[in-house]
Amino acid sequence: MMNRTKRALFFILVGLFAFNVNAKPLSKGKPISPVLFGLFFEDINYSADGGLYAELVQNRSFEYNPTERREWHPLSYWEYISPGYSYGRISVETKEPIHPNNPHYIVLDIEFVGHYEQFEGEAGVGLKNAGFDGMVVQEGEKYNLSLFARQLSEAPVEMLISLQNRKGEVLAESSVSTSSYEWEKYSTTLTASASCDTALLVVLAKNEGKLALDMISLFPEKTFKNRPNGLRADLAKMLADMQPKFIRFPGGCLVHGDGLGNMYRWKNTIGPLEQRKGQRNIWGYHQTAGLGYFEYFQFCEDIGAKPLPVLPAAVSCQNSGGTWRIGGTGQKALPMDEMPEYIQEVLDLVEWANGPSTSEWGAKRAAAGHPEPFNLEYIGIGNEDKMTPEFEERFTMIYNAMKEKHPEVTIIGTVGPFHSGTDFDKGWELADDLKIPVVDEHYYTDPNWFLSNQYRYDRYDRNASKVYLGEYASWGNKLWNAIAEAAYLTSLERNGDVVIMASYAPLLAKKGFTQWRTDMIFFDNVNIVPSPNYYVQKMFMNNQGDLYFDNVIQKDKNDSTLAASCVMDSKTGDVILKMVNASKEIKSFTVDLSRFGINKAKAELTLLQGDAEAENTFFDSETLVPEKVAFNVDEKFVYPAFKMSLTVIRINTKK
Ligand code: AHR
Repeated sequence: MMNRTKRALFFILVGLFAFNVNAKPLSKGKPISPVLFGLFFEDINYSADGGLYAELVQNRSFEYNPTERREWHPLSYWEYISPGYSYGRISVETKEPIHPNNPHYIVLDIEFVGHYEQFEGEAGVGLKNAGFDGMVVQEGEKYNLSLFARQLSEAPVEMLISLQNRKGEVLAESSVSTSSYEWEKYSTTLTASASCDTALLVVLAKNEGKLALDMISLFPEKTFKNRPNGLRADLAKMLADMQPKFIRFPGGCLVHGDGLGNMYRWKNTIGPLEQRKGQRNIWGYHQTAGLGYFEYFQFCEDIGAKPLPVLPAAVSCQNSGGTWRIGGTGQKALPMDEMPEYIQEVLDLVEWANGPSTSEWGAKRAAAGHPEPFNLEYIGIGNEDKMTPEFEERFTMIYNAMKEKHPEVTIIGTVGPFHSGTDFDKGWELADDLKIPVVDEHYYTDPNWFLSNQYRYDRYDRNASKVYLGEYASWGNKLWNAIAEAAYLTSLERNGDVVIMASYAPLLAKKGFTQWRTDMIFFDNVNIVPSPNYYVQKMFMNNQGDLYFDNVIQKDKNDSTLAASCVMDSKTGDVILKMVNASKEIKSFTVDLSRFGINKAKAELTLLQGDAEAENTFFDSETLVPEKVAFNVDEKFVYPAFKMSLTVIRINTKK
């Protein structure tokens, strides 16, 4: 890789060698989708609980169970403690829960609290939670603790709440005392006196008595935008920095689920946290639904992205009950007599998101703190489902109902898990028959496929359904993968009249819990490692346009390692050039800006470049980062692009 000084010299020379070429007459700008590049968030790889969702306690509501993971039970990730020669009993109960959706809770019977002189610590009976491999606390920061308790003894029970390091040293401390024989929420704030990456939460009853406990929760006060029940600030910022135009959520295969009982039902994920229905995640762990529909919509609004929820098409994943892609019990369909209720559930989402706060579902949104509508414009129905008669029948019923009741919402259909094949063809046939406005294509494949298929969408029928490329990635997180994707993204811009949205997948992956071979952002509790693929996505998202211009950048037409695009953001008037060299040698592009009346203009150049095999790691996450330099453009110039590089040149025409 070139160092910064060499690179700066290189750009000065490029400026000196700018020369005139005979430009062909240029076409007018072609309108392209103004919302082309966005994000796809799926709760896979511990992306939500233990990831983006800032909750620090694991198994806060004692709902972990063996159907999720054989060794799990309601007390998983909790340790019963009785320091100071104290003794008591703990039991898991279900008789009088806070809410039927949250059936398990614990009962602590504190029989004796020791007070022996030789014991230096705090005596009591209680519980310890180590979170998701430890809790990260920062000196001076505040942490909001809440729990539900029901006093079962005559006398109140006082609880000492503390954050401790692994040696048992106290980092923060506070207390709460029960005051009701009914379930009641108690809250307190803990301020950390020291930083620790592996802290534990300790809840210790200090006097003899009996109480029921549930929903023991701890959040950093500083979440993204300081939202209560919010998102991990550093991870959310990484996403916000990309400036995505939309976010699709909550999956993926998570949406259609592992069997009918596991389909993602949005209504289970709104309202008070203690009333939400957690469930087994198709990816083999627990989802609390704490990051639910309200939080997804709120996040979209916070970062100026359009929400794109995807709902199941009333069928489960075709791989249900089996190993991924090897198949199991196969797709199951909701019985026909359940369809009216299910269709109403889909319609209710529109009322929840967009209806007035006086409507039944709009009132629930307002009660959660958002009286204004969320302006939902798109809904996906189905996720790469197998195209069976059962699917087609149910999809058509939902689609027709939505078209009739909510023609203002754009429906996105699905065309299977691959870029071609039976489900793809059948999905497109259905799209043609029903005139579905947009269909969702998915493909994960070899980097070379992306280079050799750069003209895929040039051949698409302009009058057929539009495309949302909802999931794609080349297999790998090396620079070579990212640059091959960058080449393909220029072709999406060129075809931004057909492809109206695109999102890389999967988005987040936790170290030690990664379930997919290639992902965009890797993280643990402390560090974030953006892949080169992240930077390519960011460079495209930060530089989106709504007009596409042909013939501004010329390259060798027979060389599939080269790709380029020119767009304009008509709001700012900025002209944006993107040039990709996916080869192992320097290659040139010829740029002609006369169409825009640009000559000797100042621009900003962003460059991602390096060795094909390079990738960012937890040991050295800064290896591949784009660099920004000031750059002067002439009316016509030759741009020699570095080997294995993506260059974005942004010219502000209004300066
Ligand atoms: O992104 C991972 C998975 O890939 C998604 O859940 C599914 O839609 C696709 O097959």
